[in-house]
Order: sequence, then structure tokens, then C-alpha cells
Amino acid sequence: GKVAVMMGGKSAEREVSLKSGAAVLSALRAAGIDAAPFDPQDKPLEALHGENFSRVFIALHGRGGEDGSMQGALNLLNIPYTGSGVLASALAMDKWRCKLVWAAAGLPVPEYGIVTPTSNFAEIEARLGLPLFVKPANEGSSIGISKVKESGGLRAAFKLAAQYDSCVIAERFLAGGEFTVGIIGDQALPVIRIVPQTEFYDFAAKYSRDDTTYHIPSGLGEAREAEIRAMALRAFAALGGRSWGRIDVLLDAEGRAWCLEANTSPGMTDHSLVPMAAKAAGISFGDLVVKLLVEARC
Ligand code: DAL
Ligand code: MG
Repeated sequence: GKVAVMMGGKSAEREVSLKSGAAVLSALRAAGIDAAPFDPQDKPLEALHGENFSRVFIALHGRGGEDGSMQGALNLLNIPYTGSGVLASALAMDKWRCKLVWAAAGLPVPEYGIVTPTSNFAEIEARLGLPLFVKPANEGSSIGISKVKESGGLRAAFKLAAQYDSCVIAERFLAGGEFTVGIIGDQALPVIRIVPQTEFYDFAAKYSRDDTTYHIPSGLGEAREAEIRAMALRAFAALGGRSWGRIDVLLDAEGRAWCLEANTSPGMTDHSLVPMAAKAAGISFGDLVVKLLVEARC
């Protein structure tokens, strides 16, 4: 049978997914693999059987593709797919439950609070300090995220985030920079330090601006990198992640590392981080895509 490259979908990250999917599709074809795009927004999943697809490469991001629902559907259809299964996907997509699991596993999680319409906004600002971040619990690509810098700003930030999800998180700002660790199999890839020219690594910095700089090696030194890579592997394992993913990490002003979030279907665009880290580790984009496909399960 053929390989379906699942791309598009209905999440807010649809456009990103179309780019990831296009890159994956051409890499599979270049490797001589019979692959075709499949957008779950266009047709029912049962069409996978009818069109003789025997494997799925999931290049979907966000809800409906990265949150366990697609994974569960493919389990029931008995079609192997790339990446994590139902539970790890669902936990990673829900930033609140992800934090709960990580904290219970003894992993460092930045101080946060759940914000609701009846929250005491001033109290949350006072407790977490300014600036702080506000984000919908279930989104990706920094959609709906604000950095609140001024007292009283939490309410507007909450309203924006609440457009995307009923669960909104406020999170302490950590001043030591943004890092990410790609994971392939049981291996953590080299740490990337991300230096956006924007206030934080937002949607524009991720996909449209070309002024973000990526540092591999990260400049932290080998010993620190080894610690952070080990932490990322523990964080991925705590969620039950499979085959590949990416753990985003923050450093505080003292240089301590904190787990920010997990991605079980990381971006595969030409701006994306896992392909960048894989390349630094000597793994080409084509080899990466084929390796992930070989590990497909259900
Ligand atoms: N959510 C985007 C696709 C990423 O993590 O790369
Ligand atoms: Mg994400």
C-alpha cells in the first residue's frame, strides 16, 4: 500500500501543517516511497482503506491531529502511524495536564496559574510577577499567547487566549532564554538556543520573519547541554512519548533549566527545529522522515 501524509486538518495550525506535510511528502517521494497527501478535512478517514493506504505519516499539528484523537482513530482502523500514541499526544497537547504530570514526576515546571473569568487578576499578576505569559492550554505555534508587561494587562491577554481554549494558563517569565531539544528514538538531539528579535518566539518569529537566530551548539557548554538533554528525555518519557518529539525548555536568570512544553508532532517546515537539530547531528531531512516512517505503529 501507499503512505498517506496526513496534512492540513482544521486546527489553527493548518497552514503550518500544510508546509510540514509538503516537505515530508517530497522527502518520501525522493526516497522512492509511494506517498500521497491526505487532508482529513476533505474526506473521511475510512477513505484510507479504500484508497489502499497502509501507513500514515502524521504531519498534522494541533487539535485533531496532535492531540490523540487522530491517533485513536488510526488505532481503531488498524493503520500504523508515525509518532506518539493516544495518551502521550493528548497529554502533550494539554499544557495544563502536561505540567501536572511533569511536576508529579519531579521535573521542573515554571510557576503558573489557571486563569478563569472569575480569577483575581491582580493577585495572579502579583504572584507570578511581570512580565508574565498568558496562553491557551491547547494550542501550538504560540497562537493566542501574550506577554503581559504592564500591570492590569492580564485581563486583555486572558480574553485573547480564551478565544482559543476554555483553559487559560498564566506563567512566570524566565529570563535565561528559550531552548529546544528534539528527540529521535531514545536520543536527544543537540540543544538549540532560539533568539527571536520579537518579544518572544511568537508565530511571526516562527514562520514569517527571517530574523530569529538559532544557535547550535547552544553556547551552554557540553555539561549543561547533557543535563538539559537528559531532562528532555525524562520529560518525554513521563508523557509516554514514542519515536520522536520535541521538548521546549526555558532557562531562568540563574541558568537553571525548566520544562516548558512538549510537541509530539513537531513542525517539519524549512524553518522548523527538529530538522535543524537532526542536521546538526548528521541526520538529513530525508533520512529523518524515512526513519520515522519505519517506526510507525498502531
Ligand atoms: N507546533 C509547531 C508545529 C511546532 O511545535 O513545531
Ligand atoms: Mg507546541
